[in-house]
Amino acid sequence: MIRAQLSPISKVLIVDFGGQYTHLIARRVRELGAFSEILPFDRIWDIEINRETPVILSGSHMSLLTEGNRAREVMEFLVSRGVRHVLGICFGHQLLSYYFGGEVSFGCSEYGGTRVRITGEDPLFSGWEKEEIAWMSHGDCVVKPPPNSDVIAISENGYIAAIRISSANGTYYGVQFHPEVHHTTKGPELLGNFLSIAGVERAWGPGEYLNQAKRIIAESIPEGERAVAAVSGGIDSTVAAFVAKAVLGDRLVPILIDHGLFREGEVEEVVAMLEPIGLKPVVVDARERFLGGLEGKEDCEERRVIIGEEYARVLAEFAESVGARHIIQGTTYPDVIESGPGAADKIKSHHNVGGLPKWVGERFSIVEPLRYLYKDEVRALAKLLGLPNYFIERHPFPGPGLAVRIIGEFTRRKLEICRKASKVVEDVLRERGILGKAWQAFAVVGDDKWVGVKGDARANGYVVIIRVVESSDGMTADYMKIPYDVLDEAARRIYNAIPEVTMVAYAITPKPPSTIEPC
Ligand code: XMP
Repeated sequence: MIRAQLSPISKVLIVDFGGQYTHLIARRVRELGAFSEILPFDRIWDIEINRETPVILSGSHMSLLTEGNRAREVMEFLVSRGVRHVLGICFGHQLLSYYFGGEVSFGCSEYGGTRVRITGEDPLFSGWEKEEIAWMSHGDCVVKPPPNSDVIAISENGYIAAIRISSANGTYYGVQFHPEVHHTTKGPELLGNFLSIAGVERAWGPGEYLNQAKRIIAESIPEGERAVAAVSGGIDSTVAAFVAKAVLGDRLVPILIDHGLFREGEVEEVVAMLEPIGLKPVVVDARERFLGGLEGKEDCEERRVIIGEEYARVLAEFAESVGARHIIQGTTYPDVIESGPGAADKIKSHHNVGGLPKWVGERFSIVEPLRYLYKDEVRALAKLLGLPNYFIERHPFPGPGLAVRIIGEFTRRKLEICRKASKVVEDVLRERGILGKAWQAFAVVGDDKWVGVKGDARANGYVVIIRVVESSDGMTADYMKIPYDVLDEAARRIYNAIPEVTMVAYAITPKPPSTIEPC
């Protein structure tokens, strides 16, 4: 039942029809100081909605012309509950118009930055000039507005860009463009205006993130009971454990599972950094258990499953050994929310599963204090808590560690090459002041061999690929245009330090079409 998922402090509800920008809407609203939550549209019937809760209807890849009835039921639900404030975006705008008796049609697509002219005075456009640039991404459009509505903006192509509908519950708005996309110059103003019209309180900020995280822990873990938190040095697990420590004190037992897939020296470094902030994890050396299971495995997805299962087993054994019934996880909001219809294809299992195998949840209570927070909010919380920059500025590191940076057969030798080469990449970029600007920087090892000459003899060696990317959220990325002399130095240091490497290459493909990690 989804009811349990909605936070008690919910302020703005975003109904997700599977639009590509739904998370962006939620983030923009939060940046404006109002807590927002996303709900897949087909679960709307499970919630109890307050008529004062403003609702934003997202975009969609669906067309009302083919799937209008399912979406229509959402409107029926909202109207029957007396919801007073609705803003429909793109598909949501078409849905509102269609529901109230307007007409939607094919063949009026607009894409990209488009001039939009305001044709009617309305507080929704407060702060806008008569004409502004707005981001469009639609195939269908509203060709006939519903009765009891006013067209309040028109696009440069003559299509309806915004509409105001007088419903029995209140005034509903629809905008054909995407105010959440930064190309819409005055998008934040428009969203802010909607929040003001709806009278939303703006108190969402780091102090609230902390209150919420503490409340989740305090309400989930009864007095006197213990919890285990696995830490890895990543920002999410560190913040989750730190807040849990503040609430539970010695009832929190931190653990660091050494699976043998960390970067060089990482375990010792993380332990040393955690100690001053009061987290002293028990380091469980499970390297043989993990590496033994991975040896010889070619399929990366299979390796992810092996690692996920083994990780859960080690964690469960540990929790039982210390008498803990609760496991604290640093899961963040994007992993909690499944997108709406036709959610993105499963590219890699972590994107869809996000978390522990199901059986763990049957044996332990899983407590996720950061489950409502986006990554940038977790960072802001870390700053509020005064955590060292070491944690805040660290590059993301995948849960399965270096195992996703080995292409083809997994061998300990390739793992060692990957580890050593990655260290060189990081060292060189750090020395040149570039590391902090990259989203991630690492080395990859595959099965291909390149004939080389080492010490006058023919050598058949490994190909190491350097990958350095820039990104703001990991969803899209571009390779970093690193100066040749830096690449040159990294390559030289790699093939000089690792005798079996006869070729070093640089990966120059953005995401998409590539992903960031090779597998
Ligand atoms: P991709 O390779 O899918 O990566 O473009 C996007 C971001 O996710 C990280 N990543 C993972 N994180 N478990 C994780 O916790 C994984 O299995 C995993 N695979 C990729 C990756 O490092 C990048 O930041």
